[in-house]
Amino acid sequence: MKKTLAILLAALMLIGMFSFASAEAKTYKVGVSIYQYTDNFMTLYRNEIENYFKSLETDDVKYEITMADAKNDMAEQTNQVRNFITQGMDVIILNLVQTSSADAVIDEIVAADIPLVLINREPLAYDADGNTLDESYAGILNNAKVCYVGADARQSGTFQGEMVAALDNHGDINGDGKVSYIMIEGDPENIDAQYRTEFSVKALTDAGIEVECLDDQVGNWDQTKGQELCANALSNYGDKIEVVFCNNDGMALGAATAIQTAGRKVGEDIYLLGVDALPEAIDLIKEGDMTGTVLNDHIGQSHTAVDVAVKLLNGEDIENYYWVDYVKVDKAYVDAQ
Ligand code: BGC
Repeated sequence: MKKTLAILLAALMLIGMFSFASAEAKTYKVGVSIYQYTDNFMTLYRNEIENYFKSLETDDVKYEITMADAKNDMAEQTNQVRNFITQGMDVIILNLVQTSSADAVIDEIVAADIPLVLINREPLAYDADGNTLDESYAGILNNAKVCYVGADARQSGTFQGEMVAALDNHGDINGDGKVSYIMIEGDPENIDAQYRTEFSVKALTDAGIEVECLDDQVGNWDQTKGQELCANALSNYGDKIEVVFCNNDGMALGAATAIQTAGRKVGEDIYLLGVDALPEAIDLIKEGDMTGTVLNDHIGQSHTAVDVAVKLLNGEDIENYYWVDYVKVDKAYVDAQ
């Protein structure tokens, strides 16, 4: 009798242990490296990656996120990726410092058999002479567990130009038959900067509007730099400047300050365009201190990136490319919100 009881007790304990083990949550390790924490747009983006991962947690599934600032330094980012590999991350989300280093980084991650979601900075296909090809990049296409989540920057540039073309004077404030503009560019290695620069102006010329470029400078996505470049251009070209195109809102916020300091007034004697739809830019549009911006949907992009990371964690098949649309944001749009 005693023996039977002891066996029964042992069996019950075993069952208890098993059910306890199966109730324990599975924790996935996620490594995220962001090209630079001080970037306004990437700050919204990375915060939403964390929030959204947390919102997907259940009693059974948890996500342990290790987020790293690559400080705009590719060597630093490569180290972070190597640490992620040694730490045995289950998935990596990567916002590259330099897209030209994509091959090397992807190779190391693929060799470690860790799925990879690239975000925001699209690696490109080049020909033998280093010219950008309008083709998908082999490093992504040839790997079943690698993908890119982003937005087609051509669309954002086109939207900027279209907002100017839609103005009553089509951007030609002084009525001399052409739109005289300055361009403040993001990091020139970045396709977002290249496409926005090209397609904003193309939208004007496609609409039959003559253009004149007074100045084209690199502000590296940075607000302080944007202010400095715009202030210089305003003092060099004065009233000749009718439109200020900035590749992002960070630089446009700086340009807005420079425009105010120079005693110019957006909507009256100058127009100012950005991209991202940062809350601060939306406020400026509301007050009439910025002409328009383009929503770079960090919510849509971060959620897509996390959703696809979760698919990869579940061993599901994925696409190699995921695209999120931009949205035109002018005063009418802001007022209607
Ligand atoms: C955003 C910029 C940001 C850059 C970072 C772009 O898509 O518009 O604001 O600085 O990404 O790579």
